[in-house]
Amino acid sequence: MVRIRQAAAEDADAVFSLLSFLMTSYEPSREAFDRTYPMLVASPTAHLLVAEDDGGIQGYVYACDVPTLFANGVITEILELYVVESQRGQGIGRGLVEAVVERARQRNVVEVTVPTRRAGELYEGIGFEPTAELFKLRLTG
Ligand SMILES: CC(C)(COP(=O)(O)OP(=O)(O)OC[C@H]1O[C@@H](n2cnc3c(N)ncnc32)[C@H](O)[C@@H]1OP(=O)(O)O)[C@@H](O)C(=O)NCCC(=O)NCCS
Repeated sequence: MVRIRQAAAEDADAVFSLLSFLMTSYEPSREAFDRTYPMLVASPTAHLLVAEDDGGIQGYVYACDVPTLFANGVITEILELYVVESQRGQGIGRGLVEAVVERARQRNVVEVTVPTRRAGELYEGIGFEPTAELFKLRLTG
């Protein structure tokens, strides 16, 4: 049975190994990860959840709260979502996204967004609607 829970400091190695598979446009850096991961685990506005079964951590989602003026409140943006390839198609990805949404509701967040070109059907199946284009200016490498 898969359990979804908040990530802890001890999950760093497992999350890093999943991140390495998720990243397609960036090179994973363990040094950068080790600077950021503890901040995410400790921050009340960062939501890093893992899906775990008896075999270990099978997926994770990272979302972040952003206070806005235009939306009349805080929005939660899903930035990373990954499920181990051999474990896909069993509802783990959906469960992780639904856990983010449920926790956001409890914080009275006004909307949940996800900038992605991948897995649109997963999000639309949960009720997300496609809306904006994403413009990106890279400042490093
Ligand atoms: C996207 C991902 C997290 C889905 O994980 P998963 O555990 O297989 O997803 P689920 O089993 O919960 O599937 C939920 C629904 O989304 C659909 N879906 C899942 N992955 C999909 C994909 N890549 N593209 C389109 N639809 C997808 C499934 O068909 C399923 O529909 P159903 O509920 O009607 O059966 C996983 O494929 C993954 O890690 N992909 C690589 C990273 C990635 O693309 N991340 C998303 C970027 S934000």
